[in-house]
Amino acid sequence: MHHFHYSGPSLQCEAVDLAAVARLYGTPTYVYSAATIAENFHRLQQSLAGLDVQICYAAKANSNLAVLRHCANLGAGFDLVSGGEIRRVIAAGGDLQASVFAGVGKTEDEIRLALENGVFALHVESEPELARINHVAGKLGVKAPIALRVNPDVDAHTHAKITTGRSDNKFGIPLKQAAGAYEVAAKLKNLTLRGVQMHIGSQLTTVAPFAEAVQKVAPLVADLQANHGITYFSIGGGMGIVYKDALASGAQAWWDAQPAAQRPLTPEAYGETLTPLLAPLGLKVLLEHGRFIVGNAGVLLTRVEHLKRGANKNFLVVDAAMNDLVRPAMYESYHEIVPVQRDSSRRALVADVVGPVCESGDCFAKDRQLQEVGEGELLALMSAGAYGFTMASRYNTRALAAEVLVNGSAFELVRQRETFAQMIAGEKVPAFLQ
Ligand code: LLP
Repeated sequence: MHHFHYSGPSLQCEAVDLAAVARLYGTPTYVYSAATIAENFHRLQQSLAGLDVQICYAAKANSNLAVLRHCANLGAGFDLVSGGEIRRVIAAGGDLQASVFAGVGKTEDEIRLALENGVFALHVESEPELARINHVAGKLGVKAPIALRVNPDVDAHTHAKITTGRSDNKFGIPLKQAAGAYEVAAKLKNLTLRGVQMHIGSQLTTVAPFAEAVQKVAPLVADLQANHGITYFSIGGGMGIVYKDALASGAQAWWDAQPAAQRPLTPEAYGETLTPLLAPLGLKVLLEHGRFIVGNAGVLLTRVEHLKRGANKNFLVVDAAMNDLVRPAMYESYHEIVPVQRDSSRRALVADVVGPVCESGDCFAKDRQLQEVGEGELLALMSAGAYGFTMASRYNTRALAAEVLVNGSAFELVRQRETFAQMIAGEKVPAFLQ
């Protein structure tokens, strides 16, 4: 469910006309719904209501300071993967003591930053990393709280580039070696064993792989609790969202109309299956969802530059491009595209929706059926709240887009569109070329 809907002909985010946002701040612009983020957050929390749950929102999905602060106000800690993300949470006023620091290649500087700021735990991916964390903690004279990331070798049935829990992925310590790695960790005097972590992949649309992974790892968790007094089990993130019927899925009616067997994963179904598997452990449960919290809470607003009628195809050239939203180019992912002003009297148009970047891969949709639109009209790419702006680049020297947060009938610019001067600020022509 989300808060993007038509009011008459106009697409709105909560009570704000998206056309008004585009008029004020231009395009391409990401627009986020604060109410949707809050609802997703609360649904997730409620889904495991019987357990001691801490949501560590995966900041990589959307790390705008306003989004981080909103999540922090809702009670989130954070799942962080770089010194930059740690600094973002500090800048946003978030709670690092409820946050975890993960990633396969943490540098010494990043480990120090995490420890100095009192993170809840570091999620460790290998034995060499245990030694490195032990070393840095020793120099700081602290004990580093850690959990090992265990790789349960479960097929998440998602896109190959975002599956992480198979034995041929670079992530985590194989389940069979995990007990041994914990013994190694227990001997390192600057470490405290605090938990177990796993994450099997992203955009999962059924609960079965989550359940399989929890069942596979639970015996290890119980042993570690008995022998090393660990206090938490992080089951990662990964809950998928609706991309195909994105707009319609904002309404409860859409969910009610889905046959039970085809209903996409909901937090309620997730909780119902996982609660009985987790409850017997009696441990704190960490959830690291990113996409579920922010994915359907954002759209990318773009303006049509031209409708180009080719020999066998129509191309709708828009002012957003793969540098703004790379998911279609990178994962062939689907984003629903809807007009900001809908008009049922218009003819249908079948077109490839493409950006201006000089690559054929700069294509948001192929042979997509849309209402006919022309130069200057606005479109919204749905479900763009997660892994949209955070994966943006400046390819083709295109400035980073603006971001806007809506709250009821109010909205505010939460990131200015980048200027050309900002883009080249760190560059210079050396004296020997002048
Ligand atoms: N925890 C860990 C250890 C992760 O690696 C990730 C995501 C998450 C949590 C959050 O997963 P989520 O709940 O958002 O699915 N750029 C890709 C997704 C990459 C996900 C990477 N890891 C995309 O656009 O689909």
